[in-house]
Amino acid sequence: MSSSVPLPPPYDRLGRHSLLPVPSHDDSARMNFLANMNVHVGAVLFPGVSASYEAKVKPEFEKERGRAPESSVEVRDAMKSDPAYQTWSALRRNTQEARQQVGRSFVYKQLDTLVERAKTINAGSNRLRLDESVKIPRYLSAADNHVMPGSYYTEVVPDDISAPANYESGHYTTVAGGTGPKSDLVGRTMAAWLKENYPDIKPQRIVDIGAGAGFNTIPLAQAYSDAEVWVVDVAAPMLRYGHARAKEMGVENMIFQQADAESVDIEPGSVDVVISAMFFHETSTKAMRSILEKARAMLKPGGLMLHMEQPNFDPDTTPFEKFVRDWDCWYNAEPFWAKLHTIDVVDEMVAAGFDRDDTFETSQPIDRFDPSYPKWVGSFSRHAHEAKMREGAEKPNPKKAGGMYMFGATKQS
Ligand SMILES: C[S@@+](CC[C@H](N)C(=O)[O-])C[C@H]1O[C@@H](n2cnc3c(N)ncnc32)[C@H](O)[C@@H]1O
Repeated sequence: MSSSVPLPPPYDRLGRHSLLPVPSHDDSARMNFLANMNVHVGAVLFPGVSASYEAKVKPEFEKERGRAPESSVEVRDAMKSDPAYQTWSALRRNTQEARQQVGRSFVYKQLDTLVERAKTINAGSNRLRLDESVKIPRYLSAADNHVMPGSYYTEVVPDDISAPANYESGHYTTVAGGTGPKSDLVGRTMAAWLKENYPDIKPQRIVDIGAGAGFNTIPLAQAYSDAEVWVVDVAAPMLRYGHARAKEMGVENMIFQQADAESVDIEPGSVDVVISAMFFHETSTKAMRSILEKARAMLKPGGLMLHMEQPNFDPDTTPFEKFVRDWDCWYNAEPFWAKLHTIDVVDEMVAAGFDRDDTFETSQPIDRFDPSYPKWVGSFSRHAHEAKMREGAEKPNPKKAGGMYMFGATKQS
């Protein structure tokens, strides 16, 4: 490994709470190996893939076809027989598979204890609102998102929390610690954006849709401690775990509601801020449209909507960049990821009823600071090369500003 690549933080920096599965020495060693491997794959091997494309694969394509590749699929098909790409892609997939297996192996060993602990913490709470009638949307059950066996919702024992326990345990490894010890970097960054851009708002109700276990909702709940902050998700295990976890962290102003974001029963016109983090790429075109309409309906006049997502492609996004950014769709079980890259989110917000002038795309410097945590960790991640490709001279373009991309709108009436 090149000496210029910093090491990821060790696995024991992952923020502890009583719901988090306890890894053995060897489990931690496996997670540390995978985090280091992810950094190596992203920071050391990926530049070789780029170089191989420029020096060999693209010129050969041009010679044969009389033009450069024009789409991500054309680049992919040309790259398939390239050894640098094969190595990078296979290792990227395999570290992801291994992370799931390692995480699940130590979660399952202690599942009875974890389930009992969550049950005890959750008992009698009126802030955990499960609803057995909620159906898992087809787009979610069609794939094990990011190669996570059973996805977010599968229950292997009654009152199960194994999916989120594995999700939190392994997330740290996949992003090489890049989202911080509490896996809440996105939420911290969104809260910072709100405080900077809307310093005077005093929301009474905030709703986070597709909020999972609420890792990224907690910073909002802490930043707006007078607000009632809703975590809406279809997956009961995420909500059980998230409710107990938030309680263990001393956060008491959150409601964990099992519901489909398309049909969640929240009084129209009753919400000040509706947010989502890394959510839409796991939905579908149809669902995204109806969820944006639903979000608008739940907002009060003057309310604000804010979503953090992958930015879509620009006219100047190169076919190679598209190919790299679409990889997760083809090989990391993220079926909607590539399609979302082609959708104009401003048009979608307008179709959902927002005035075009009230929509925005924005970028916020990523808030990586945590006193217990090395600041330099932000210098790399599994997706760092993608972020790098988005950086550019046109700083005002939020898709290229190098910070965290978000889009949203205000509702006037
Ligand atoms: C990638 S996770 C993001 C979780 C969370 N926002 C975070 O930042 O940790 C996507 C979540 O969306 C949930 N989800 C997918 N479709 C949904 C829908 N229609 N309504 C509510 N939740 C949904 C999944 O169960 C999953 O927990």
